[in-house]
Amino acid sequence: MAEGMQKVDELLKVNKLLVVGLGLIGGSVALAARRAGFANHYLGVDLAYDERQGALSLGVVDQASASLAELAPDADLILLAVPVLAMEPVLAALKPHLKPTAVVTDVGSAKAVVLEAAKKVFNELPARLVLGHPIAGAEKSGVLASKVDLFVGRTVILTPTENNAAEAIGLVKQLWQACGAEVIEMDVKKHDQVLARTSHLPHLLAFSLVETLARKDERLEIFRYAAGGFRDFTRVAASDPVMWRDIFLANRDATLEALDEFMEGVERLKTAVESQDAEALVSSFTRAKSARDYFTALLNETGYQTMQTTTLNFITQPGAKTIKGTIRVPGDKSISHRSIMLGALAEGTTQVKGFLEGEDALATLQTFRDMGVLIEGPHNGQVTIHGVGMHGLKKPQGPLYLGNSGTTMRLLAGLLAAQPFDTELTGDASLSKRPMNRVADPLRLMGAEIATADQGRPPLKITGGKPLKGINYDLPMASAQVKSCLLLAGLWAEGETQVTEPAPTRDHTERMLKGFGYTVSQAGATVSLTGGGKLTATEIDIPADISSATFFMVAAAIMPGSDLTLEHVGINPTRDGVINILRLMGADLELSNQREVGGEPVADIRVRYAPLKGIAIPEDQVPLAIDEFPVLFIAAACAEGVTTLSGAEELRVKESDRIQVMADGLLDLGVECTVLDDGIQIIGKGEQAEVFGSAEIICHHDHRIAMSFAVAGLRASGNIHIKDCAVVNTSFPGFAELMNNVGGKLLVEQK
Ligand code: S3P
Repeated sequence: MAEGMQKVDELLKVNKLLVVGLGLIGGSVALAARRAGFANHYLGVDLAYDERQGALSLGVVDQASASLAELAPDADLILLAVPVLAMEPVLAALKPHLKPTAVVTDVGSAKAVVLEAAKKVFNELPARLVLGHPIAGAEKSGVLASKVDLFVGRTVILTPTENNAAEAIGLVKQLWQACGAEVIEMDVKKHDQVLARTSHLPHLLAFSLVETLARKDERLEIFRYAAGGFRDFTRVAASDPVMWRDIFLANRDATLEALDEFMEGVERLKTAVESQDAEALVSSFTRAKSARDYFTALLNETGYQTMQTTTLNFITQPGAKTIKGTIRVPGDKSISHRSIMLGALAEGTTQVKGFLEGEDALATLQTFRDMGVLIEGPHNGQVTIHGVGMHGLKKPQGPLYLGNSGTTMRLLAGLLAAQPFDTELTGDASLSKRPMNRVADPLRLMGAEIATADQGRPPLKITGGKPLKGINYDLPMASAQVKSCLLLAGLWAEGETQVTEPAPTRDHTERMLKGFGYTVSQAGATVSLTGGGKLTATEIDIPADISSATFFMVAAAIMPGSDLTLEHVGINPTRDGVINILRLMGADLELSNQREVGGEPVADIRVRYAPLKGIAIPEDQVPLAIDEFPVLFIAAACAEGVTTLSGAEELRVKESDRIQVMADGLLDLGVECTVLDDGIQIIGKGEQAEVFGSAEIICHHDHRIAMSFAVAGLRASGNIHIKDCAVVNTSFPGFAELMNNVGGKLLVEQK
């Protein structure tokens, strides 16, 4: 059975399926239904002798006739695959021959006109006439062009009304599912509007462009010079003129509406060209490009939807020797998020270099596009953000989907609580389990209105237009996300917002706010700002992410003979716990070329292999290395003696429960460890060449779990199969390739 095809064994089997109109669509339905065993007999009616003969010789139908009177009385399900304007006479001809139990459906690409035709013939829409439209076709027509797979993976829109019997709708659905299609329902008006915009208008434009050029140049010489762009844009102008004439006559009103909108858009562009308005042109083209890229992502199932649709596994292989080279890992995730947020709210244009083109940061970028901000790029880490000012964001069209990104959700919650419009924030399976009350509770104290799902989980529904006031808030946990969320809300709050943290956490928000000209005060553990100011656009150079660099630091630290240099790594003192911890374990790390870039300290880090020893990790280092623990556990397994981590209960509410998930994987790989409430104890195997065995690892939508076990593979005796690693793209696109470039042996399996 072909992929996408539904099983129909358990469905009620139709005795006789009659196709009226033996063309490409009607023929393909009969072929597909026959392959799925949907009916016992296949009948066809067509006035054209050639189509009937073609249908019989291809085995599309068992019996063909020019007369409805001959075949309709016996039919159980009748599919009308005739041009939309022929529906009325065909329905009228069919009416006297229908048996009472028969179900009728159609394939017309405009629905209001068919509904009208049915009402004329029957006075009202009969309960057993269910209108539908398969979104599939080809430039070719005629029964000989029929394809058994034409509908596989395609969408069929049914437009039932309250007159329809549920049983009739169900049968029509089953027919299309048997053909491999996905069936959705829509009302008639919406169907005609959607199709006018996405199908009928582009056809009209293609016909028009080709004809306009042909008129100008009767000998058609001009087409010799036309290349791919012209070909792609005008492909559909080769479609059947008569069919399209009928569609425009049938879907007149919705097409005219779509055409008016389009002409307004063309007028705007014309004015921009006339007046040399470069900003208007680039803003229109960028919006179009990002919409087109989104469409491509939908078609290819890539983009920040990948994680839900593509299966990607890592398989580590024994035999890696040393880790060597000089590399730069992608840009810092935390700083990338903040660059988009502050750049969007600033006055003026912000230029960003080194932006992380990973799914999480892209989710933030898309969110601001959805709120009307013009953002160019990213191209090779460069992004240009045309800020809209503190009051310039627009209400997004629908819920904002944030993929796997907890940082986006928590920081945005603060920013959006202060906007005049309502918003809803949603995420993937991992994000949907993460606690959001840690931001919702203090935001409510500021005056925000936020609803969450059960136990403070996403989605977050934020009611706009609530005035906020500054608060003094003692963070119950060391969290930069919560601190940043409240500072962002504080930008619009009345008075001062003060946040006191129990231990230092990353301070990128504070540093970047200052970079955008906003006054932020720091007194001991308390950071504060006063609402009502403005941000001024700036330039941002994002360092390489120390959290991503850590996977390679540990790789070099555990592989004898390694010598690896990581360039331009952010070594902000609120993020450098991993350097301190690895040094305490005996790792050989050398920092050079230390400098400040755009308010953030950076350095090149050279790591040479040295034997590691187990340590008790100082608790003050925990918030400074919070994202690095999964791979530090791998280092601990390769160290001599016991490593103990405590005071790290926050690890349990990351993208996964990182204590439990890492412990499960370590145990499966033969490493002894004990789970503690707030940490873990790991018995290292020291100099032993092969520390890990072989196992299958489930990474629970957590990028850092996947990458950590990929590093473990370097010291494993067998293969480690790491399942569902597409999520690695959230923070580290190109991870596997880079690992292999420096000496790793990591196979990527895509399904
Ligand atoms: C982040 C803060 C940390 C960190 C996360 C990014 C940020 O989360 O784990 O990856 O960009 O502010 P918490 O604030 O929950 O500790």
